[in-house]
Amino acid sequence: MAIRSTLFILLLAVSLTHGFKIKEATIQDIHLAFNSNKLTSRQLVEFYLKQIQALNPVLRAVIEVSPDALNQADEADEKRRASGGNSAGLEGIPVLLKDNIGTKDRLNTTAGSLALVGSVVGRDSGVVERLRRAGSIILGKASLSEWAQFRSLNAPSGWNARSGQGKNPYLLSAEPCGSSSGSAIGVAANLVTVSLGTETDGSIVCPSSANSVVGIKPTLGLTSRSGVITISPRQDTVGPICRTVSDAVYVLDAIVGFDSRDAEATREAAKFIPYGGYKQFLKEDGLKGKRLGILRKLFFDLYNGTVFNHAFEKHFVTLKQRGAILVDNIEIANVDIIVNSTASGEATALVAEFKISLNAYLLELVRSPVRSLADIIAFNNKFSAQEKINEFGQDIFLAAQATNGIGEAEKNAIEKMKRLSRDGLERLMKEKKLDALVTPGAIASSILAIGGFPGISIPAGYGSDGIPFGIYFGGRRGSEPKLIEIAYGFEQATKVRKPPSFKP
Ligand SMILES: *[C@@H]1O[C@H](CO)[C@@H](O)[C@H](O)[C@H]1NC(C)=O
Ligand SMILES: *[C@@H]1O[C@H](CO)[C@@H](O)[C@H](O)[C@H]1NC(C)=O
Ligand SMILES: *[C@@H]1O[C@H](CO)[C@@H](O)[C@H](O)[C@H]1NC(C)=O
Repeated sequence: MAIRSTLFILLLAVSLTHGFKIKEATIQDIHLAFNSNKLTSRQLVEFYLKQIQALNPVLRAVIEVSPDALNQADEADEKRRASGGNSAGLEGIPVLLKDNIGTKDRLNTTAGSLALVGSVVGRDSGVVERLRRAGSIILGKASLSEWAQFRSLNAPSGWNARSGQGKNPYLLSAEPCGSSSGSAIGVAANLVTVSLGTETDGSIVCPSSANSVVGIKPTLGLTSRSGVITISPRQDTVGPICRTVSDAVYVLDAIVGFDSRDAEATREAAKFIPYGGYKQFLKEDGLKGKRLGILRKLFFDLYNGTVFNHAFEKHFVTLKQRGAILVDNIEIANVDIIVNSTASGEATALVAEFKISLNAYLLELVRSPVRSLADIIAFNNKFSAQEKINEFGQDIFLAAQATNGIGEAEKNAIEKMKRLSRDGLERLMKEKKLDALVTPGAIASSILAIGGFPGISIPAGYGSDGIPFGIYFGGRRGSEPKLIEIAYGFEQATKVRKPPSFKP
């Protein structure tokens, strides 16, 4: 039923737009169509609204659609006409935002929780201010795993109390991974042009990998966290989730930069932003001469003899053919500790940091039915049926509530993670003169997460059941230019992504 109406809508949309096909269109395709009068932002938004209407009842990728999206589209069209048809960057491009990214408009910002419905933010989050300045259209809020899967790890990925269970558009019976599930599903299923997700540890890379899209997890502080419901100022980062590396880089260019409301981290990272932005690194031959470290032990070895393994082995050959130098079988010191959040100290630090971050966010709100983590825990108990407390619990919330600031244990944990990163990724990359580390999917996300290091996930194949998987390139802080060259070179050489098939 949903599929049939989608077909109808696609036919309708094609006829409305002079043969321009919106489905799978890149930002560059869209600007070409805008500037040759084959497409308007209004037509683009109308197409996506119909896609959402047809597919979202199944996919549950969108929590809310902005009642202002069509007006913003008309404004973008008017501006383009006035400028003589010359749009670029994110002008007139619709964006879907993970529901923990605050917007001061008619959209709610709730992290998927019923407790935050009706809360009012004082102003746009830092990244949304930048998106609006860039002329993009805020299409709506994307569903997520409630509280960035931080209420309880027992909840399935993609689930939240407000929009229900998100679905993987390639195989509807599979989970989409989280926590930025709706952002990834939304772009994968062509419900929007581009989206933003956030990551503490794996929340951009995992859904990107599972839904065959590109995710950039920027260096900590490259993008502002002001006005975002975060877990940890030490790890959280906002980044693009898109269908192509090029689209993701367009979004990255628009959202990076200093923000006085997240001053320390954004000032520190702003020095990494290259003059002229990141688009200059979208080079066809970006792999040439790049030294890539293959982390086999614990990671690629896991897939020995599987369809994944065959795909990765083939990709290694392609990487070499395109001029990359593979440094194989390398190991990160203490990797078994790094990927174990209990052993690394990550779990200890995150629960304490979450309580502080969340309480600070809630206190800043202009209006809110809840003002503290304790209030939210009480809300969840009161509305336990809707919040599925009996099924999924809120064990991490309770653990967070039991913490009392950054004390001795937390300080030691944070020091331990710094040491693990210094003796691990940083030392290895320096010693082997690497440009990037290569791992499959999201299983090594902690290596990058605990050090605030950047990474880019790109579609790498499909399992025998049709579930997508990705390949993840990570590097040192500020190494986005190199990672973009590598990711773009890999993407252009492999072109793995195909649109979803909605298998039951
Ligand atoms: C925000 O939440 C309120 C309360 O549930 C609802 O009435 C309103 O429609 C929501 N806004 C949007 C844009 O969906
Ligand atoms: C995976 O296969 C390779 C090559 O056949 C082998 O060297 C390696 O030991 C295997 N690893 C595991 C974990 O089985
Ligand atoms: C993770 O580390 C903890 C604490 O050191 C240990 O008890 C646990 O067994 C480890 N988990 C795994 C899967 O190795």
